[in-house]
Amino acid sequence: QELELKLEMLEKGGYDHFMLKEIYEQPRSIRDCLRGRIYPTEGLVQLGGIKDYIEKLKELDRIIIVACGTSWHAGLVGEYLIEEYARVPVEVEYASEFRYRNPIITPNDLVIAISQSGETADTMAAIELAKEMGATIFGICNVVGASIPRITHAGVYTHAGPEIGVASTKAFTAQVTILTLMAFYIAQQRGNITQSKFIEYLTELDKVPDLVEQTLKCNDTVKAIAERFKDSANCLFLGRGVSFPVALEGALKLKEISYIHAEGYPAAEMKHGPIALIDAEMPVVFIATKNSSYEKVISNIQEVKARGGKVIAIVSEGDVEVKEMADYVIEIPLTGETFVPLLATIPLQLLSYHIAVMRGCNVDQPRNLAKSVTVE
Ligand code: AGP
Repeated sequence: QELELKLEMLEKGGYDHFMLKEIYEQPRSIRDCLRGRIYPTEGLVQLGGIKDYIEKLKELDRIIIVACGTSWHAGLVGEYLIEEYARVPVEVEYASEFRYRNPIITPNDLVIAISQSGETADTMAAIELAKEMGATIFGICNVVGASIPRITHAGVYTHAGPEIGVASTKAFTAQVTILTLMAFYIAQQRGNITQSKFIEYLTELDKVPDLVEQTLKCNDTVKAIAERFKDSANCLFLGRGVSFPVALEGALKLKEISYIHAEGYPAAEMKHGPIALIDAEMPVVFIATKNSSYEKVISNIQEVKARGGKVIAIVSEGDVEVKEMADYVIEIPLTGETFVPLLATIPLQLLSYHIAVMRGCNVDQPRNLAKSVTVE
């Protein structure tokens, strides 16, 4: 037993939990995910797994993304980015719903199935259904040789390395990285992006692993915030635009490992209901980075403050305005809006991790959950 324990310690690479190790691996896993795929100076993206489908990418009418859980959140980020850059309509569906609702699918559709494990039963069933209806299916998977890569027409591996913690962390950022790359790639193939812009975006994307490294320095700040809110019964996560799926992911992380009830919302939706929940006991986490919706998010923060809520804001380095009104701030490096999900996710992962540890929860194997859901 002692040997087993030592072996586990070794596997965790000196970290207390696999989840923490995997959070800290992200600069490397994102780098691995990009390796051999982007050449910023040449303005070139190579996605070997899907290169035979370039003509298809040029002609397709619509993209449908199917996934579950965290992978579904990555899909939502993908929706924003693909529509923004490639100008192709995207729908994101829970695989479990898609498979039972007689969806309209045509051979001009591309279905992208996202799965860390590559074994999720609902996602596999959704793929089979779309395949029967003639769509082309791409997979974005982490586990090499899993079932999903075997039943899809083509795909891209995320190369994040084995993810042991039940709560997905590095797989999520790797999925978002691939979707970002795909958005640029499809945009280029369809002629929706100039070569100079393409080079500019690739250059920025190439810097993300270093920015993630810098972002991880927020750990001590996040830990102190976790100490303050570890006994909360509820928590709201709010973001706008591409940060809305990040809010959903932050809420999912918190509930699955700390068992605190948490909800993610688009910040502007708050006034349509969730605002009723706000009182002095309610922590509200805002993703309030400097981007197109910054001013709007500031108004949402004021609405929460006016009702006594406690605001924890993720802000861009050097922020002044939000700092003045939030109770707690976590700074992340300044980056283009497109890349915010890859950075803003990190403090949210750390927040749920520290809260769960402080509450004595089994971080790596939360109750009632399995790493891959191979049943309906
Ligand atoms: C993530 O933290 C969850 N454990 C869960 O939502 C997971 O993302 C979902 O079950 C999908 O799994 P997959 O990516 O392996 O298909």
